[in-house]
Amino acid sequence: MPKRHTIIYPGSFDPPTNGHLDLIERAAALFDEVIVAVLSHDRKDPLFTVAERVEMLRTATANIANVQAESFEGLLVDYARRKDARLILRGIRAVSDYEYELQMALMNRKLSPTLETVFMLPAEAYSYVSSRLVKEVWGLGGDIHELVPEIVEQRLAQKRGKV
Ligand code: PNS
Repeated sequence: MPKRHTIIYPGSFDPPTNGHLDLIERAAALFDEVIVAVLSHDRKDPLFTVAERVEMLRTATANIANVQAESFEGLLVDYARRKDARLILRGIRAVSDYEYELQMALMNRKLSPTLETVFMLPAEAYSYVSSRLVKEVWGLGGDIHELVPEIVEQRLAQKRGKV
């Protein structure tokens, strides 16, 4: 039987953006199974709970059969081992992302030499989109309609008490 390739796409996803979704769609077309993994117990002060982020990711990817979303705790390399995955997916939007990503990929390689990090580029249209800026624009009353999946826009509206 040919080998199945499971790739893990880890991150904070607070909230998921159209850039994340674009990358998930690209990965789903290339790999057998994509597991979108939301980090639990992050030290950052999140806008959405981990459960809310997982639910938004599940809704936004419900039409893609080989994508699942869940949360994970602890080291990514240990989680990948538990999932029997040898591939990690990260997106790089611009050169400025590279240094942070390089450090993480090399640290993960040090911890688990057989785990490979695969970098993919989101569509150019999303090269400036980040969860941090979406939150900032939303927080200041700006329009985030074209930047996030519909479910995220709805959940953001609920947070503001507008729905
Ligand atoms: O979306 P983010 O915040 O850039 O994602 C960062 C994430 C979740 C991929 C990273 O912080 C992570 O993998 N954390 C798990 C703990 C771990 O394994 N740390 C060492 C990785 S170098």
